[in-house]
Amino acid sequence: MKVLGIESSCDETAASVVEDGFRLLSNVVASSMDLHAQYGGVVPEIAARSHIEVIGGVIAQALDEAACTWDDIDAIAVTYGAGLGGSLLIGVLTARTLAIVHDKPLYAINHVEGHVYANFLTSVIPAASPLADYRLPAHQPAFPILALIVSGGHSQLALFRDHFDYTLLGQTQDDAIGEAFDKVAKVIGLPYPGGPSVEKKAHEGNPLAFKLPKSKMSEKYDFSFSGIKTAVLRVAQEQIGEDFTFPSKDIPARLSESQKADIAASFQRVAIETVVDKTILAFDEFQPTSVVIAGGVAASPELRRQLAERLPIPIEYTDPRLCTDNGAMIATLGCFHMKLDRPSSNPYTLDIQPNLSM
Ligand code: KG4
Ligand code: ZN
Repeated sequence: MKVLGIESSCDETAASVVEDGFRLLSNVVASSMDLHAQYGGVVPEIAARSHIEVIGGVIAQALDEAACTWDDIDAIAVTYGAGLGGSLLIGVLTARTLAIVHDKPLYAINHVEGHVYANFLTSVIPAASPLADYRLPAHQPAFPILALIVSGGHSQLALFRDHFDYTLLGQTQDDAIGEAFDKVAKVIGLPYPGGPSVEKKAHEGNPLAFKLPKSKMSEKYDFSFSGIKTAVLRVAQEQIGEDFTFPSKDIPARLSESQKADIAASFQRVAIETVVDKTILAFDEFQPTSVVIAGGVAASPELRRQLAERLPIPIEYTDPRLCTDNGAMIATLGCFHMKLDRPSSNPYTLDIQPNLSM
């Protein structure tokens, strides 16, 4: 069974073909990130416009790299939420049209659930393909699975008892952790997206240079990142000898490179520790068979290091290119929809759900 996955919820236009829910045949991602970088965050109108421009080519390339024609494709899976309305619309309308024209079942995929399924990919086919250097886990995770989902839009802990049977244990009450990385990067003058640039700068800094707060939540598996974000702003203002009224946009020019590195390293350590603490707490309570991490922040080497160090069981990580938004995770979850005879969507009526939750 081969499923074409289409993802367009934010600034990545992505398509992929996955076979039987574990074998990656292609993974094509076109990002409009560079166009947003000058604004320090994603501009919805720019994202939607670039989806329109590239989505046809991205899908054609995904089929081509998988050596598939439409006859080989058994179903189409598409992200219908959560995400930016305009962006989702392009992917969903494209998928609906293709499902009608090529007479394929259409599966509507929740983006956040999709992220978790990137961890089910365990093999790529041709050694010579563009996928040859992907590092995938040796085994699929086994249920019950504890999933830490950390991205630019989401911070969630969920317990999956089986496919399509899960409980949300907790989630962020304000900013997502990736959003906090992006905002901290802006305060200290590092480029968007903040995750990779904070990570790079942190290498030169002292992670113990500044004491930053971990939020105390009334629900033990919930997160909050607005406090640490404000604390970083105050530290930066103090470092340049100004008070809290000093405008954040003028801070980067006054910080030395070593001050920036110390702030990046301290923030990264504490932000990651916050999500690792809760993952360990949930592990102890629920004793899952496997733990997986998913979403853009799952690409973080600091997260991977801290979690592997503190978990009492081994954990396998997927390739960082499958952590940030991609079509492969959508196609993989689509395979399980099909395998388990889940109802498909009506290609004439499937609508987007920008605020879809887990
Ligand atoms: O999953 P994703 O591509 O998009 C959303 O669904 O939000 O996640 C993007 C987020 C951004 O906030 C980015 O800063 C963060 O993932 N990110 C990282 C790293 N690479 C990407 N955060 C920390 N460390 C990284 N290495
Ligand atoms: Zn995402």
